[in-house]
Amino acid sequence: MSFLTDKNILLGISGGIAAYKSAELVRLLRKQGANVRICMTASAQHFITPLTLQALSGNAVHTELLDPAAELGMGHIELARWADFILIAPATANVLAKLTWGLADDLLTTVCLASKAPLLVAPAMNQQMWKNPATQHNTRTLGERGVRVFGPAAGEQACGDTGPGRMLEPYQLVDALEECCATSQLLKGQRVLLTAGPTREAIDPVRFLTNRSSGKMGYAVAQAAAQMGAEVMLVSGHVALECPPGVQRIITESAADMLQATCEQAKQADLFIATAAVADYTPVEVAGHKIKKNAETLSLGMKRTTDILATIKREYPHLFTVGFAAETHDLMNYARDKLERKGLDMIAANSVANGKAFDQSTNALEVVWRDGHTSLPEMDKHVLAHELLKIIATQYHARKLATS
Ligand code: CTP
Repeated sequence: MSFLTDKNILLGISGGIAAYKSAELVRLLRKQGANVRICMTASAQHFITPLTLQALSGNAVHTELLDPAAELGMGHIELARWADFILIAPATANVLAKLTWGLADDLLTTVCLASKAPLLVAPAMNQQMWKNPATQHNTRTLGERGVRVFGPAAGEQACGDTGPGRMLEPYQLVDALEECCATSQLLKGQRVLLTAGPTREAIDPVRFLTNRSSGKMGYAVAQAAAQMGAEVMLVSGHVALECPPGVQRIITESAADMLQATCEQAKQADLFIATAAVADYTPVEVAGHKIKKNAETLSLGMKRTTDILATIKREYPHLFTVGFAAETHDLMNYARDKLERKGLDMIAANSVANGKAFDQSTNALEVVWRDGHTSLPEMDKHVLAHELLKIIATQYHARKLATS
């Protein structure tokens, strides 16, 4: 049986030439046993008729926001509640922009705004429109909010250009949607605790020592955990990121604050994932007043901070614990060493040589556990987080089974 069987899929179709592929998409979704309802924008109807899609889906096609007949039956709020997943394919540059800004000037965008269902988009447009910084920014923003972006593929385009902007093929979209359905329950009911971002170690009332961590990887992991059904608590340093939907967050300042908040939360957790870039040293003394520049040189006495990850594993040995390792060289050796030394269940190591990983939107990981290892090649941090969590969930469930 397919994971799509009996799932309610709302297919949004916006106005691009790839709309002709939607007919095949509907056919394949129904073949997997999904219930399909369709919402079309006005321009989509220039490329494919509602009648075709009605015949294929077996349901009336929704096109109008203010349709008195529809509002009596399956109105926009009912449609928003009905959907288990919303897939927009093709998603034009215009629709991506509207979703980014929360516009609701037609049925499709209104339903998206009114729905709690996971949103998936399959961009399709001219390659120059795709490469435009506005479209890139919008797509990135949607990704940060938990929207799953599938494609686009590169190749020949209807307009004669060659490049990225082709909608993925219908069978690829069905596979992607099926994968989403399958993973949406992977961590259901599990409580995941994470640390993320940098710490700030005060020197005086106006200065602190910190590091280059943006928190992007940790936030992407927190978001992926929530999308897999987990209850997620994120203990974060100061970052310029919004709290992902479905995630609870505590903001902390120093390594000591982060340790305290994490220890308190660990009592209620099943898994602990430490992605934070925690300061290893903190000033011995914090000046009570702003330090004046009287001397030519300034020395700061520093002392070691407590290792949050090692502390949590020691105090809560039942917790499935995952560490991160950022290394400039000898990645695998250091990763295995940290796994052993801190008694972890798993470690995800990445290279930070030549400015890699920090504050970037892509990353690559070597994931190591006691009797296994896998490489995740360079990809968008949101996609990477999802792949990493699939591995974590598999190992976590395997350990639970072995110890039960
Ligand atoms: N970590 C932590 N608390 C600390 C330091 C690190 O929880 N005070 C966690 C990080 O969140 C990460 C892992 O430990 O998951 C690895 O951190 P890293 O600094 O790379 O490793 P260290 O063991 O501190 O070794 P080194 O600094 O020598 O590389």
